[in-house]
Amino acid sequence: MPSQLTRIVCVAAIGASTLNAQTPRQSPLTSARASQLADSILRLMTLEEKIGQLNQLPGRGTQTGPRAPTGGEAMIRTGRVGSFLGIFGADYTRELQQIATRESRLRIPLLFGLDVIHGFRTIYPIPLGEAASFDPARVEFSARQAAIEATAHGITWTFAPMVDIARDPRWGRISEGAGEDPYLGTVMAAAQVRGFQGGDKGTGLGAPDALLSTVKHYAAYGGAEGGRDYNSVELSERTLWETYLPPYQAAVNAGVATVMASFNDIGGIPAHSSEWLIGDVLRDRWGFKGLVISDWGGIGELIPHGVAANKGDAGILGIRAGIDIDMSDAVYADSLAAAVRTGRVPLALVDSAVKRVLRLKYALGLFADPYRFNDAARERLYTLAQPHLDAALQAAREGIVLLKNANRTLPLRKNLGSIAVIGPLADDGAAALGNWAADGRPEEAITVSAGIRKALGASARVVNVRGAPVDTVDTTGFAMARSAVADAEAVVLVLGERHNMSGEASSRASVELPGSQRDLALTVIRAAASGNKPVVVVLMNGRSLAIPELVRDAPAIVESWFLGNQHGRAVADVLFGDYNPGGKLPVTFPRATGQIQLYYNHRNTGRPADPANGYTSKYLDLPWTPLFPFGYGLSYTTFAYSSLRLSAPKIVAGDSLTVSVDVKNTGDRAGDEVVQLYLRDSVASVAEPVKSLKAFRRVTLQPAETRTVTFRIGADAFSLYDRRMRKVVEPGMFTVFVGTNSDDVASTHVQITGDTLVLAPATPRFR
Ligand code: NOJ
Repeated sequence: MPSQLTRIVCVAAIGASTLNAQTPRQSPLTSARASQLADSILRLMTLEEKIGQLNQLPGRGTQTGPRAPTGGEAMIRTGRVGSFLGIFGADYTRELQQIATRESRLRIPLLFGLDVIHGFRTIYPIPLGEAASFDPARVEFSARQAAIEATAHGITWTFAPMVDIARDPRWGRISEGAGEDPYLGTVMAAAQVRGFQGGDKGTGLGAPDALLSTVKHYAAYGGAEGGRDYNSVELSERTLWETYLPPYQAAVNAGVATVMASFNDIGGIPAHSSEWLIGDVLRDRWGFKGLVISDWGGIGELIPHGVAANKGDAGILGIRAGIDIDMSDAVYADSLAAAVRTGRVPLALVDSAVKRVLRLKYALGLFADPYRFNDAARERLYTLAQPHLDAALQAAREGIVLLKNANRTLPLRKNLGSIAVIGPLADDGAAALGNWAADGRPEEAITVSAGIRKALGASARVVNVRGAPVDTVDTTGFAMARSAVADAEAVVLVLGERHNMSGEASSRASVELPGSQRDLALTVIRAAASGNKPVVVVLMNGRSLAIPELVRDAPAIVESWFLGNQHGRAVADVLFGDYNPGGKLPVTFPRATGQIQLYYNHRNTGRPADPANGYTSKYLDLPWTPLFPFGYGLSYTTFAYSSLRLSAPKIVAGDSLTVSVDVKNTGDRAGDEVVQLYLRDSVASVAEPVKSLKAFRRVTLQPAETRTVTFRIGADAFSLYDRRMRKVVEPGMFTVFVGTNSDDVASTHVQITGDTLVLAPATPRFR
């Protein structure tokens, strides 16, 4: 063995012992050992081998599972690829890892990435549905279990969480994030990073069940104009910093290992070429030490964006901006070596990118043991393991939001002799799983009608009728639906969107119910009402929907998003009262598409809507208010809020404030309430939102139980970006709101005294 290679093996051995000896507080990502190891390998690498580490290739699907692309194995042998996307399976990834670590010159192990967004084989609710739980511990736990299952299948890296704030539900990817609110977004971002990586600040990395996590899509991908996916983003710097950037920063603070650039441009600068976003903000301002990956083909797309003439130029822009790994379009592989040799790209830039890749591999312990993710026994043990299915059920229950329940229509009696389950999604396993189901299998999902059958048992007659297709206009099934209603004691209507009507490339120009579903619903509701039969609408969808007629006519509405494998069981538990729903909306529901963008934390304008004054901010043909506000959700019990109080009526800028409220369960059964705290800075140097969420807590209360819920809010909650874009706390009066949703709150005031406190200097100037 050549002496240089002996050295690598030695360094690798040091890496292994260091890993074992690590104190729990250190992140292996940033350790000095990782850096030393990376340097020692870097010195041995040819330029082509270096660029190989920056090259990520997609796998290709075959009947036996995702395999390496044609020619992939040869590329591993020659060191031309450093990671794969979409390849999994303990045995198969081991085979590829063996090629890398036995047959390539430098024996550098591979990374295997996959979009493990809301589960791997066990599927949890879509992120929007998980956010509706307002339960970060639950969300962290789902991510933890997803990591355990995915790593058992050879995956080392997930491209999640997606934390793009979305105020426009036409944008299909709203389903993949936590919705419209920056605070909820930051809490959920950090929870998912900790869950995937097995601890805070990267300290869990190095365990064989910890996944590298990726925060995406950096930045402001959710601001796509017109809600059209991949579209340009036009935002003020203020809104970018106030609303869109905080969740990415929260992920960085939680120790996320990697960041994915977004497809969009912001104000004419595509993210894949933005030295400002990656250099000035991510690295310099936030201190991010991990790796940046392109989105699929994002570097090559600098050509159609109109900032690069050809692939060579696109690659130069990408590496200069700070994109380390090129996902899938081989721009770096094809052109970076020439750019370095002709002096257009400094070698040092390539070296830094490669070092970051090697550090990730070290952090996972792959130099110590490249096969630690390739254990077929673990794969068998964890796939659809019972504890995972149990937790997925609980996550599904917690994500359900009860939107309406007139005259206590719900819960339904369990001793029903017959029930009609009507609608195109009632038996759709793919819809239960949602749009990023990794290796999830529709046949392993419990549909709503299957869940109802199981809950009612063999003695009840459950009749399933489609009634209408999901998204084509067709009323021929209405007659059958009416006759099913006539024959049943109760009716459940399952309506909404197919799994692939949200997610990537799935924007809709209208957020109303597609096809003939609204008319089907109104027909069925009318038929049920005339027979005096209870009727409940269960919605399955990946965005907020405009459903005013349903809200007017349906006695009960349950929002169930796409809840994963256990969808139907969770819904049945709610329908028959085995679980009392407590989720809340993480997005505003509009009355019509034309109201978009409609979000609760808007600024006030100089002419806030006033019903008595025509010359105020509103519509002629619709109210300006939402159908359901952010944070809304009912329960089978009721809660009363009282005694909102503060630790002090005045605090000095920089101090914390303690806010307490008594919440009483005033109904007759136990239930969950999400207590929400909002702030408003009424007079400031810049116009601030009418209300911003600053804290929340989901609590479970027994009948008649009163709980004092206490929040401590720090200086950051009172801060804003002033006219110079400094982050400051300004003296003045703040309104403190506490309540059950963003609209239904009690309020009091606190005065901030003293001088303006600067928490952070001016943001780097956009360039
Ligand atoms: C494109 C998507 O935008 C991104 O979210 C995903 O991680 C990659 N494709 C890889 O599948």
